[in-house]
Amino acid sequence: MTERRTSLAVALAFSALAGGTLHLPAQIPAGDYAARRDSLAVRMDSGVVIAFGGRTLVNDFGHFFQLPAFHYLTGYDEPDAALVMVVRGGRQHTTLFITRLDPRTAFYYGQRADSATLARTLGVESQSSSALPAMVDSLARTSLPFYTLADFEDADFARTDSLTRGQAFIKALMAAHPGLQVQDAHRAFVNPLRARKTPAEIALLRKAAEISSEGHRAVLVMPEPAHEYEIQAVLESTFLRLGGERPAYGSIVGSGENGTELHYMLDRGPTRPGDLVVIDAATQYHGYAADVTRTIPVNGRFTAPQRALYQLVRDAQAAAERNSKPGMSARAAADSSVEVRARGLAKLGLIEGIDAMYDPPGAPAGRGGGTGARQASFWMIHGISHGLGLAVHDYVQSSQSDPTYKVGDAFTIEPGIYISSKMLDVLPDTPRNRAFIVTVRPVVARYDMTGVRIEDDYVITDKGLERMSTAPREIADIEAIMAKRRKK
Ligand code: GLY
Ligand code: MN
Ligand code: MN
Repeated sequence: MTERRTSLAVALAFSALAGGTLHLPAQIPAGDYAARRDSLAVRMDSGVVIAFGGRTLVNDFGHFFQLPAFHYLTGYDEPDAALVMVVRGGRQHTTLFITRLDPRTAFYYGQRADSATLARTLGVESQSSSALPAMVDSLARTSLPFYTLADFEDADFARTDSLTRGQAFIKALMAAHPGLQVQDAHRAFVNPLRARKTPAEIALLRKAAEISSEGHRAVLVMPEPAHEYEIQAVLESTFLRLGGERPAYGSIVGSGENGTELHYMLDRGPTRPGDLVVIDAATQYHGYAADVTRTIPVNGRFTAPQRALYQLVRDAQAAAERNSKPGMSARAAADSSVEVRARGLAKLGLIEGIDAMYDPPGAPAGRGGGTGARQASFWMIHGISHGLGLAVHDYVQSSQSDPTYKVGDAFTIEPGIYISSKMLDVLPDTPRNRAFIVTVRPVVARYDMTGVRIEDDYVITDKGLERMSTAPREIADIEAIMAKRRKK
């Protein structure tokens, strides 16, 4: 955390002592950052790690947020920094390279912490970033293996992110030192560390989930909206009011047909009585992301078809929850939720049978060429879980070599069903698909343009599975609260 945040935390803690009313979650203790670097060094044994943090924004007046892996290892939340970690015999020596601002720029944006302050608050030695090339150049002449933490904004876009100073630096370094191999340190060393959340990290995730849940509660009691952005405004203002830094991802508020588009973030459409609205929105808190989805009826009452789909998704989530316990397989949890939805979709007539198949787009056309895919998955379109942490799609131990849930795993469970007749229209013309379409199209018409997703946040503790997000999710509870809404 920055010096400013540290002193704010101290001030708040002091006022809590004085007033006795503030309940702040534990912060990440400053010593944890050095401890993380020590753990990385033990895993690595010997080598050099070069990592770059986020750079100064290329648009003006935006907020800077540090890159997750860089924050994880340093706690340094200012732009244009790099870190060099030299590891020998499992022990590390780290230097942070920081970019100081000239006095006039500092007058506008505030001065960055100096070396003495960084040594005191973050326990790390620092130098000017102008000293970085010479140091790396001399290390490249040793026989130590080189690693880098590529400085992408988000791991989901690692391959397409071209705004990376770090990757340009490493490219130049390799050109200057032919034969130098530089390996990825994310996968080998840092992701496995990030995957297991410490109690301090879990406290921050709980707070992020708690604030996010309050945002969803506020939506249930707001007057009936006419536009998606009215819901977005209530969510995001609640997040900010309760101390969230920013939405953990672009808030998704999709009403009616828009709710069938997984990453719909336009949020400009109308919310019509009779529509369901998929609301996937959560806050980031001290860098930690929650991820919460609720699906609610615009006018406060589910129709019979909406109720049937919603309950199916809710039952699927409950099945996955029952199977997400320490030592249980993450795959089995996902499968259990697929099976609940497959049985339900077959019962409703939205698929021909729980094991019925179809030919997906891209498969060899008809004539028994492709083996096909399950019809049930046609209406599901996404997986049900990912890790949570400094990124909204973070690492979990259960996605590593032993795919079972372990203490310190933080993740979502988020089944969905999305019914859109447009999906039938783009199926390849094969005998199997023709039969599928003829059978289900009349039923699809009853449920058409309906998306349902329910997403909650969990952590595995030594007591078992804990749900951290608590916004109402049962049909009866949602309807009861919405029935008491204020009029506009
Ligand atoms: N909101 C992004 C996700 O659910 O994964
Ligand atoms: Mn999610
Ligand atoms: Mn989500």
